[in-house]
Amino acid sequence: MGNNRKLRLLGLGVFAVCMLWSCTKRQAAMTTEIVSDELWKDVDGQLINAHGGGILHYKGRYYWYGECKGDSTYRLERVKSWECWRADAKGVSCYSSADLVHWKFEGIVLPSVPQDSLPDLHPSQIMERPKVLYNEKTGKFVLWLHIDSPDYEKGMAGVAVADKPTGPFVYRGSFKPNGFDCRDQTLFKDTDGRAYHICATDWNETLLVSLLTDDYTGTTGVYKRILVHEKREAPAVFKRKGKYYLLSSGCTGWDPNEASYAVADSLLGTWVAQGNPCSGPNAKKTFYAQSTFVLQLEGEDRYIALFDRWNKKNLIHSTYIWLPVSFEKEKLVITWKKRMML
Ligand code: DGJ
Repeated sequence: MGNNRKLRLLGLGVFAVCMLWSCTKRQAAMTTEIVSDELWKDVDGQLINAHGGGILHYKGRYYWYGECKGDSTYRLERVKSWECWRADAKGVSCYSSADLVHWKFEGIVLPSVPQDSLPDLHPSQIMERPKVLYNEKTGKFVLWLHIDSPDYEKGMAGVAVADKPTGPFVYRGSFKPNGFDCRDQTLFKDTDGRAYHICATDWNETLLVSLLTDDYTGTTGVYKRILVHEKREAPAVFKRKGKYYLLSSGCTGWDPNEASYAVADSLLGTWVAQGNPCSGPNAKKTFYAQSTFVLQLEGEDRYIALFDRWNKKNLIHSTYIWLPVSFEKEKLVITWKKRMML
């Protein structure tokens, strides 16, 4: 074979390998499949650390905020009545994505502060279930989270504000919404621009829905105690076709229990419990997971329910379970699926 021919063949070979490599890369970038209950990595190959989280859609991108857990888990032995497993709080993490599959780490947007004089944000404290809303009137991003003492006795909500979805969020402090204790919590922004804070109160006996101020940073005194004495936590609220839905768990610490949902015609109205929406293997234990958020896909009549499968002895390795929500008229159905195509 002449040298020219050899060179041409080599060139062809290199071209073919490049094409294959770029096709595989493009295919990987286009994969829009969510595989539940695995340790998810961000686009840089690092573990996604965003537990008890929620998602905000803003200008074509999804922003996922969650609890950034420290890497060692320990049990707080002084708490005798339940298994108080803890990982130090690193703060609130943020990841962004255009497709809900490939996530870019945007940083810890509200970090814990080891040398802090502010006891709320010390790593030993509880910084859980962060949720963020965008306020059109002020142009600010408002973050609420559950702030607590390590033994969960304090029961407060904390608020922080940022100019960008990727922070940094400036902490404004903690308080009891409308004077009530607050533990698991979420936010919901209605189609009219009003926003609500929903949290477990009365030591997890009852849920509390509070209308927020116009700037979303405080409560207004307008509230409703709902599902009274039903002992629900891990609330996740969404709206579909004029009805409001609230998905929640029972209260068994980090251990799984049966989910339930309720429906209402207005957030401050009467919520009617409907029972467990889960179906498939382990539905009675919510697939060994606990609700944290329900995401409506932007501009679509499609919803994804987000759960955490807690690994109580290694909290940082708790996994994410994201499942499609389907509807039979107003009945909610969440069926186990290891893989979900978007
Ligand atoms: C259940 C809550 O839903 C979690 O967010 C966390 O606070 C654990 N309890 C702690 O046991």
